[in-house]
Amino acid sequence: MSTSQGFGFPRPSATDPAAASSAADGEQTTAEPVTLADDAELDLSADEAAARVEGTLASLDAELVGLASVKRRVREIASLLQVDRAREQFGLSSSKPTLHMSFTGGPGTGKTTVAMRMATILHALGYIRAPRVHVVTRDDLVGQFIGHTAPKTKEALARAAGGVLFIDEAYYLFRPENERDYGQEVIEILLTEMENERGDLVVIFAGYPDRMATFFAANPGLSSRVPHHIEFEDYDHAELVRIADLMVAAENFRFDEAARATFSEYLTRRMERPNFSNARSVRNAIERCRLRQARRLVGLRRPLRKEDLVTITDEDIRGSSLFADEAEGE
Ligand SMILES: Nc1ncnc2c1ncn2[C@@H]1O[C@H](COP(=O)(O)OP(=O)(O)O)[C@@H](O)[C@H]1O
Ligand SMILES: [Mg+2]
Repeated sequence: MSTSQGFGFPRPSATDPAAASSAADGEQTTAEPVTLADDAELDLSADEAAARVEGTLASLDAELVGLASVKRRVREIASLLQVDRAREQFGLSSSKPTLHMSFTGGPGTGKTTVAMRMATILHALGYIRAPRVHVVTRDDLVGQFIGHTAPKTKEALARAAGGVLFIDEAYYLFRPENERDYGQEVIEILLTEMENERGDLVVIFAGYPDRMATFFAANPGLSSRVPHHIEFEDYDHAELVRIADLMVAAENFRFDEAARATFSEYLTRRMERPNFSNARSVRNAIERCRLRQARRLVGLRRPLRKEDLVTITDEDIRGSSLFADEAEGE
């Protein structure tokens, strides 16, 4: 039996006499943990890492609108690791939890954002070495020619090592219509890495729910190594309005009374349009409002007050083409 000390997730060592000497193998280790007595009591909330995790979970709650079930799942995974750490302190050995995940949902539903928070939590609890997410898509992994794929994939794995590898639109790795697609090679290399018990990498597969379901169904070996499936729902109108308010406030802007109503109306229209991308569309719309506000302010040709610089008005939103076509039609 070996220990996994080298990557900051100390496994039960009291039961393993070889562990004490393995510290000499050159890998950095923290002080050998003392095994608690059977009748000792451990206060999970007194753990310094637990406090950091609570902080991250609290900011997840405060800064991300909605996503109730996602937040619950993130909390569950944090609990799993906290209890695992506690068990270790009592010398209870068990296998390292497998934390590869899939994040399914439409564009702009918060998958990448939550992946970053997840990395922070996994790091705080010692599961990964750095609170880092390396985001890749098919093109970063698959080569154009024979022999190019393995080195590319291995390079991505090396970059992600000790953190999270986030594979966006992962279903593009699998092209059933093309038998000799190099994507299959990527999947095999990933599998080897993911099956490595001593691995210090978490892989998150992300993409549209239906296509991800097809992808996993076609790759049962991969699917069986991904125990955590987290679903991101599309936001409803009320949530999008709250997201807009948060984003505007975070950038030190504010909608005036009329603008707030107009933006709500804008969202109603935008949601029905093609390529609607949830919170990302909100962010892009706000960027365009800023542009129109800037144009308006420069056009005023008068000294500006702080109030002017902060305020997004009705006019700044009505400049959108979503309102223009109505004006033209009437
Ligand atoms: N629930 C939310 N509350 C506030 N902002 C959000 C929320 N979900 C997403 N965003 C913001 O929307 C943008 C797109 O989110 P992102 O995580 O990139 O989505 P995805 O990866 O699912 O396409 C980011 O700027 C993010 O901060
Ligand atoms: Mg994303």
